[in-house]
Amino acid sequence: MAQKYEPKIVALICTYCTYTAADMAGSMRLQYAPNVLVVKLLCTGKVDVIYLLEIFRAGADAVMVSGCEVGDCHFLEGNLRAKERVAHAQALLDEAGLGGGRLEMFHIGASDAPQWAEAVKMMTRRALEMGPNPLRAQRPLAEAAALEEPRA
Ligand code: FES
Repeated sequence: MAQKYEPKIVALICTYCTYTAADMAGSMRLQYAPNVLVVKLLCTGKVDVIYLLEIFRAGADAVMVSGCEVGDCHFLEGNLRAKERVAHAQALLDEAGLGGGRLEMFHIGASDAPQWAEAVKMMTRRALEMGPNPLRAQRPLAEAAALEEPRA
């Protein structure tokens, strides 16, 4: 009997906004798939294309990047830079045949817990539609968690 495919999703989220929303979603007991590995960042401006590609190489089926609303980034333009880098990485994923749709940028404010839950559901649905990451192999997804908060 074939094993059920449960997508592995990595979420790189800003501590000032989306992390608060995700925490609140838990307090509100909002329902969403538990298959998300959250990596808390000081700001999504820390996200780089190479990090994103490395997470896919480690075997993630989908990656979410979620920062403050446009205009609310505590580091002014970190979320806008992240958005550009996500778009670049999406193009590279398309070129590589993995599908840029496996990666998405969100802007979810601290009080938007329902939006966080919906974003996770949407990415889970998308990952299910796209199927497992063809690169998932020997490297454990936990290595992706090595991307910690940026060091000064
Ligand atoms: Fe939240 Fe920059 S501080 S995205």
